[in-house]
Amino acid sequence: MTSASAPGKVILCGEHAVVYGRPAIAVPVGEVQALAHVDAGGPGQGTLVVAQDLERTVAVGKADKEDPLAQIVRLTLEQIGGETDPDLTITVTSTIPIGRGMGSGAAISTAIVRALAEHHGQWMSSRAVSDLVYQVEQIYHGTPSGIDNTVVAFEKPIFFVKEVGWEVFWVGRPFLLVVADTGVTSATWQVVGDVRRRYEADPDLYSSLFDRVGAVSHKARTAIEEGNLDTLGRLMDENQALLQQIGVSSPEVDRLVAAARQGGALGAKLSGAGWGGNIIALVTRETSARVDMMLRLAGAANVIITEVR
Ligand code: PMV
Repeated sequence: MTSASAPGKVILCGEHAVVYGRPAIAVPVGEVQALAHVDAGGPGQGTLVVAQDLERTVAVGKADKEDPLAQIVRLTLEQIGGETDPDLTITVTSTIPIGRGMGSGAAISTAIVRALAEHHGQWMSSRAVSDLVYQVEQIYHGTPSGIDNTVVAFEKPIFFVKEVGWEVFWVGRPFLLVVADTGVTSATWQVVGDVRRRYEADPDLYSSLFDRVGAVSHKARTAIEEGNLDTLGRLMDENQALLQQIGVSSPEVDRLVAAARQGGALGAKLSGAGWGGNIIALVTRETSARVDMMLRLAGAANVIITEVR
C-alpha cells in the first residue's frame, strides 16, 4: 500500500480580484489534511476510488469526464504512463471541510496524484502535480485562478498572479491565524459567477475595487516580509471592507469577523469565495485563546489555529 497527503489552505488576501489578474496571497494549513491510500485491487475490478467522507465509490473506467475523482486518476495514470484502468483501490479521506474555501477539492486531487505516482515508483515535481490538479479544478470551479492547486501542491505561502506566475516569499516573522468556520457552505463557481455579472454591469467600479484589493496584496507581502503584523492586520481589515463592497460577504461572515476583532485580533476577513465558508483572523500568542472563545460564542462551527512560517 502507498499513502500520500496534502494540506488545506486559506487565502490571506486577494480573492476574487485574483480572477481578474490582481495578485493574491495564499498559505497552506497543515492542521487539516486530505489522505489517499492506494491498494492492489481484485482481478478485473479496474480502478475504484472510495471517498468515505463523500459516501461515494467511483469506478474510474465507467465514470464520465466531469467526475473530478475519476478524472484526476485518469490524468495521473496518463502522465505516468501506467495502464488506463489498473486493478487498484484508492481510498480517500479528508479532514478539510468541503465548500468552505479551504481547498478541499485541490487537496484531495493532490493526495491522489501523489499516492498514485508513488505507487508506480515515480517522482513527480510539485509543478507537475499542480498542473494536473488545475485541470480538475476546472471541473469544480469553471474558471479557477489556479491559486488553490499551486499553494496546496507547493505547501508554502505564495504570492500569486494568474497566468503570470507566482513566488514563494520570505515570512519575516511567523504569525498565527485563527480559521473559523461559519458553518455555511458556498459553491465557489456560483459566487465567482455572481461577481462576474456585477463586474460586467459596472466594469469601472469593479476594476477599481479589484485594483484596491491588488494594492492590499502587494502591501501585505511587504508587511509579511518585514514581520510587521500590525500593518498586516490593518490590511486584512481593508481587504474585508473591499470584499463587502464586491458583494461576497454575508451576515454570518460579518458576525464572526466582528467577534474576532472584539476578541483582540489584529485584523479579520473572509477567506475564499465568501457567502459563508471560513473567516481568518490574525492573532498573537496572547490573544489567540480569547479570539478562539469569542468566535465559538459567536457561533463558529469549528475553529483551527495555524502558524504561517
Ligand atoms: O476555492 P475558494 O473558495 O478558496 O475560492 C477561490 C478564490 C476565488 O478567488 C474566489 C476564486 C479563484 O479561482 O481564485
